[in-house]
Amino acid sequence: MPVLAHLSDIHLGQDHDGDGGARAEARARQVMAHLDALPGPIDAVLVTGDIADHGRPEEYAAAAKVLASDRHRVLLCPGNHDVREAYRAGLLGEEPSAAPVNRLHELPGLTVVMCDSSVPGRPEGRLDEETLGWLDRTLSRARRDVPAVVAFHHPPVELHAPFVDAIRLQDEARVAAVLRCHPQLRAVLCGHAHTAAVSRFANLPLAVAPGVVSTVGLPWEGGADILFDQPPMVAFHVLDEGGRLTTHHRVVV
Ligand SMILES: [Fe+2]
Ligand SMILES: [Fe+2]
Repeated sequence: MPVLAHLSDIHLGQDHDGDGGARAEARARQVMAHLDALPGPIDAVLVTGDIADHGRPEEYAAAAKVLASDRHRVLLCPGNHDVREAYRAGLLGEEPSAAPVNRLHELPGLTVVMCDSSVPGRPEGRLDEETLGWLDRTLSRARRDVPAVVAFHHPPVELHAPFVDAIRLQDEARVAAVLRCHPQLRAVLCGHAHTAAVSRFANLPLAVAPGVVSTVGLPWEGGADILFDQPPMVAFHVLDEGGRLTTHHRVVV
């Protein structure tokens, strides 16, 4: 029964009241320390993008340290604040390249497919031709009898949070058409919205991770677009034998 810890949007390097990024780094460290101290096992930690705030090499150098875990596999994808060249060099130890960062991870009993929904220089998201083709081929080759989840940064549906709905995933019908061809898929996991949210997409459950660095305000909450006084949170996704996704949320204090 695979269990994934899912965190998102650590935005390392985000300056808050002139702190030079100290708050963002402290929050990310707090969440990773919480996961490293869990008494029981989990299968992987999933980080769905906006790892750096400005995409600078020094932010990825910090991320490589903050996200290093002695206990857990840590699986990543970029977000709109990330820069592919620096991300590749700093986090993956690869040659800098502007190609989308798409990765397949085969865990015991679970296939995790992570796609790059960033559009260089833009806040909204899109799975480009290369990524859509890769996603379709990768899921076609993956074992049909092993459940799979797909993860990318930008939510593909409106979450009724105007601040993030304006910069959600574009051309989502093309993504849905690909996902519908692969019956081993059990869920879509996203970040970007800085709010723990649950919806549906392509007839699959869609789970949006809470933000680590901040929380997006909702219209009926009547406050600011971005809330900095909410604590960091993490989601735990459990996929049971029947392929049903259960998600728990934990405040990390
Ligand atoms: Fe973000
Ligand atoms: Fe984002």
